[in-house]
Amino acid sequence: MKFTSILVTGGAGFIGSHLCEALLRQGRRVVVLDNLCDFYAPEIKAANLAAVRRVAAQAGGELVILRGDIRRPVDLERAFLALGPPAQAAVVHLAAMAGVRPSIERPQLYYEVNVTGTLNLLEQCRHNGVRHLAFASSSSVYGNNEKVPFAETDPVDQPISPYAATKKAGELQCHNYHHLYGISVACLRFFTVYGPRQRPDLAIHKFARLIQAGRSLPFFGDGTTRRDYTYVTDTLQGVLGSLAWLERCPAPVYEIFNLGESRTVDLATLVRLLGEALGRQPQLERLPMQPGDVDCTFADIAKARRLLGYDPQVAIEEGIPRFVDWFQENLPGAKIS
Ligand SMILES: NC(=O)c1ccc[n+]([C@@H]2O[C@H](COP(=O)([O-])OP(=O)(O)OC[C@H]3O[C@@H](n4cnc5c(N)ncnc54)[C@H](O)[C@@H]3O)[C@@H](O)[C@H]2O)c1
Repeated sequence: MKFTSILVTGGAGFIGSHLCEALLRQGRRVVVLDNLCDFYAPEIKAANLAAVRRVAAQAGGELVILRGDIRRPVDLERAFLALGPPAQAAVVHLAAMAGVRPSIERPQLYYEVNVTGTLNLLEQCRHNGVRHLAFASSSSVYGNNEKVPFAETDPVDQPISPYAATKKAGELQCHNYHHLYGISVACLRFFTVYGPRQRPDLAIHKFARLIQAGRSLPFFGDGTTRRDYTYVTDTLQGVLGSLAWLERCPAPVYEIFNLGESRTVDLATLVRLLGEALGRQPQLERLPMQPGDVDCTFADIAKARRLLGYDPQVAIEEGIPRFVDWFQENLPGAKIS
């Protein structure tokens, strides 16, 4: 194992906390940089970190948790200092303002965190000699791509939300630093990730709270919009695969990978599966399609299969009951917001 030390930005979040646990179990040293922002309750992120600490204690792994902001170069400097010798280090850059709809309300903030923050991070990689990076991009870069499934070679020049534009910008910034400074980058386009600890603003979590409480859920469009939902353990498998790929590549590389299940599920089916798992009949409040929302996401994962050994395992019929088990155990009286 070449990368003994990994910096995970956004390590207190949904995907980040799972990733930190997986890295510690692999015997790697983990440095977390997260500002615990209030995009959703910071208490949830603190609980995620407590779980990561427990895994570190069990696995006997070294864990450094730093509270800091990627918009502040001085905070990033501290994180890179904690990372140790650059030749054995890599970064997984997950810290971001996530979510499509809130980005329409606060485009400036999304730009500052996702674009300026990513630039700050790349500058630190450059100046500290850290040459390997996995960057969390998003399926949203495909916009309303009509060709399905989406391949990494499809044009992504027409984002339909500020969030999507910042993720595409992040991919371009990474390419820039690859070209100029020989930094190897895996840009990972995640497709709607769900599972334990899922962000409370995301549809599956939000719908589960409303169905559980017997309240009607906002049902946008006619139920035919489709998403490629990815169970979080499958996403992790892709992220870990990308680190192994970066470890294997002898020369600087830059590649983009789709990480989805390569299967689409319509909204009506998703709501039905959630209702079945919760044992309740969902009540629907029918609303028009939201600006910024895409009609369909559908990942072509042939490239990730080939280069990363990515092989997603959890179909939605299995993943939703697993999510509901976690939801009922952890949030029985979850508040509606
Ligand atoms: N969850 C999904 O379905 C999905 C889909 C596509 C892409 N992504 C991307 O994957 C990454 C992780 O997503 P997630 O769902 O775990 O989100 P999350 O909000 O749970 O995690 C992001 C973390 O980044 C931290 N953060 C935000 N701004 C920061 C800043 N300025 N400085 C330091 N830390 C900051 C947050 O506190 C949070 O803990 C994000 O980059 C997101 O855009 C997620």
